[in-house]
Amino acid sequence: MDLHVRSTPVGSHKDQALLLLLAPGDDPGRALDAAGTSYREAYEALVERGAFEAKPGQCRVLTGAAKDGHPILVVVGTGKLADAQPMRSAASTGLRALRDLGVRSATVLLPTGRGPLYRPDHVADAVAEGAVTGLYRFQVHKSKKAKTRIETLTLLAPRGEAKRAEKGARRGRILGEAVCLARDLGNEPGNRATPTYLAETAMEIAGEHGLEVKILEEADMEKLGMGALLGVSQGSAEPAKLILLTYEPARASKSTETVALVGKGLTFDAGGISIKPAAKMDEMRFDMCGGAAVLATMQAVARLKVPVRVIGVVPSSENLLGAKAYKPGDIVRAMNGTTIEVKNTDAEGRLILADALSYVTSKVRPRPKIVIDLATLTGACVVSLGDQHCGLISNDDALATKMLAAGERSGDRAWRLPLTDGYRKQIDSPYADIQNLGTGPGAGTITAGAFLERFIGKSRWAHLDIAGTAWTDKQAGLLTKGATGFGVRLLADLLSGWRRG
Ligand code: BES
Ligand code: ZN
Ligand code: ZN
Repeated sequence: MDLHVRSTPVGSHKDQALLLLLAPGDDPGRALDAAGTSYREAYEALVERGAFEAKPGQCRVLTGAAKDGHPILVVVGTGKLADAQPMRSAASTGLRALRDLGVRSATVLLPTGRGPLYRPDHVADAVAEGAVTGLYRFQVHKSKKAKTRIETLTLLAPRGEAKRAEKGARRGRILGEAVCLARDLGNEPGNRATPTYLAETAMEIAGEHGLEVKILEEADMEKLGMGALLGVSQGSAEPAKLILLTYEPARASKSTETVALVGKGLTFDAGGISIKPAAKMDEMRFDMCGGAAVLATMQAVARLKVPVRVIGVVPSSENLLGAKAYKPGDIVRAMNGTTIEVKNTDAEGRLILADALSYVTSKVRPRPKIVIDLATLTGACVVSLGDQHCGLISNDDALATKMLAAGERSGDRAWRLPLTDGYRKQIDSPYADIQNLGTGPGAGTITAGAFLERFIGKSRWAHLDIAGTAWTDKQAGLLTKGATGFGVRLLADLLSGWRRG
């Protein structure tokens, strides 16, 4: 899609359709007049009938005459704005409606108003991100691809604000494209998106965006003593990979901080010998969405040129059953020496993360002081938080506060859960140092966090459990059925505004 920013008035620029994003009380009269001869009347009639109140997501299509500047007009409500999310979402909804009508070139009039949410760069950012993510489709495996496509999108900024809007649009586009990359990786089925495929994708991203890349093979893992990751992988014919990408900021100095992002890249989770039920087992192809978010964030970080060094790490394997598979009761030894009793082979995410976290906190130079991991880790998180917030567990209040704020700004919202000694005790094992299952009662998300904490050394650490937010059945606003790309926006927001402390 070509994306342009202009600051010409409505009417001087003609294409197939105009999209207006409206909050309650907005008067679009002048834009309506400029867009076409009959729009004002049609819009006023709509409002009179109570059919349009500018509620979030409310979307109405008006058709004009062929000679009009924009023969189709769509109005979408944003509601009264408390954050940028309804703006992103309204842009998605409106542009999807236009695409369904077969529109190929459309213009969005960037809304104006009071307060920081209406700053031209912020509005353009939200609209560009909403456009790119909302128009996302995954059709790689469809023989017949949809013909409808918006090819050209023009954002109309207020007079004199094109430059600022352009800057915002660039950022929104980069974030949107990174979210789409994470979705593409997530949506690829398990027979395509293998650990090897993720490693190859990482090499492509590195080549395109000037990142350093390193792939550890199983033989390397043996040497390093990664018994937890290898234990999970031993029941699979696909070789495990540990993927590492490094972004170095242009003006790095001694004081430049290093942040490590670690994402669970389990390309199919059958549960292992502790096999999962058949219903919805296909969804476990999404069990690599944490890893996908890390790879996509690395792309965004390189394009945004964030001011901090970032290391992306993705431990990747399958979790299958077979004669060679690891078994309940087995004891494995992670790279940092911790022995783990495998109470349940389906709690494999924490095992592959254990070795990735050990590696990044002991072998990588410069040593990251901050480590953030993302994983579709526990069904318990889906029970407690559903699909609106991911779970956040952290040993550092300042980092947790930053992450919560980045979540609110970006739309990838997080909710913090406690991690205290009473929970830590619940992973003690009678036979090994720890076990991969909490004794409970309940709190499966927290005991999984307590497990990960044993592998982070002295780092400031935050863990995001994205089990409930990584994929969806919904088709609304920014979302399309399938992988959501959750986490990319939160991390990109956090890192692009990075400050010490
Ligand atoms: N990948 C799953 C977690 C999951 C379940 C994510 C449902 C999204 C939706 C993970 O590997 C797993 O199976 N966890 C177990 C842990 C349990 C055995 C302690 C779970 O949550 O049931
Ligand atoms: Zn599992
Ligand atoms: Zn899993």
